[in-house]
Amino acid sequence: MKVFVTRTIPPEGQALLAQTGIFKLEQWDSDEPISREDLLKGVAGAHGILCLLSDKIDKEVLDAAGSNLKVISTLSVGVDHLAVDEIKKRGIRLGYTPDVLTDATAELAVALLLTTSRRLPEGIQEAKNGGWISWKPLWMCGYQLLNSTVGIIGLGRIGQAIARRLKPFGVQKFLYTGRRPRAKEAAEFQAVFVPLEQLAAQSDFVVVSCALTPETQELCNKNFFQKMKKTAVFVNVSRGDVVNQEDLYQALTNGQITAAGLDVTSPEPLPTNHPLFSLKNCVILPHMGSATYGTRNTMSVLAVNNLLAGLKGEPMPSEFKL
Ligand code: GLV
Ligand code: GLV
Repeated sequence: MKVFVTRTIPPEGQALLAQTGIFKLEQWDSDEPISREDLLKGVAGAHGILCLLSDKIDKEVLDAAGSNLKVISTLSVGVDHLAVDEIKKRGIRLGYTPDVLTDATAELAVALLLTTSRRLPEGIQEAKNGGWISWKPLWMCGYQLLNSTVGIIGLGRIGQAIARRLKPFGVQKFLYTGRRPRAKEAAEFQAVFVPLEQLAAQSDFVVVSCALTPETQELCNKNFFQKMKKTAVFVNVSRGDVVNQEDLYQALTNGQITAAGLDVTSPEPLPTNHPLFSLKNCVILPHMGSATYGTRNTMSVLAVNNLLAGLKGEPMPSEFKL
């Protein structure tokens, strides 16, 4: 059996790959992404593929792999880079890495929220570049979580972990929206299920932590930002395509909202000349929600174990329900 791995993965997963003698390993053994051409070549005849969220596994790649392909294992919780319908149609099993990255991603979401609402990048710049002339009553003021209303779009594993961390800051009220109410999970935060527009209108902080699906594509658009409070902060740790970035740019420049913090953009990487980078009230991070050594290593081990289980026809530790 042949396995194709599209990148050098973190050391613990890499060590596990090396130990397993059940397949012939072919790998794009580099820290840099594989080209489309090399991806199409590399997957040919593979029984298993281990890929990253930056690899687009569409019909063309599945065709290039051919009929041996039994299992795809992605080093991510998101599966929006994969042609899920086509994978299902071909009877290929899919592994992913939920749960193990929840805490790291929620931690980053809180960091990004505070960084954005308390204007840390601006403050750091001012301190360094001579803008710090004296202490001034309203200089560098932002907004705080105490007594605020936080709206969470997608109260899944990550959304709940974010709420759990924000609660001790003295948040007064949690709102959430999604495909359906999650009464059991929401009870921990007394979070109230509301329509999207109500969440926009009533939240002081909006946090996006839903999966990217056809239903959530550009969910946060002009209409949404117009409903938001002028003093509200918008944070996205899910996928860039949940947001219409032109509408966000308008909202940030027209004063419709006060600031935005994005760990994800469309495209990724976001070109350095993108207008959003020119805004002081927009903090952009390079998709680093799960980026801790521990989490990335754990993800890599889980991804390899999913792959192995799939090849052996055994239950995967984390199989995506197709
Ligand atoms: C990160 O965005 C992931 O999907 O794992
Ligand atoms: C702030 O440093 C204060 O003393 O109020």
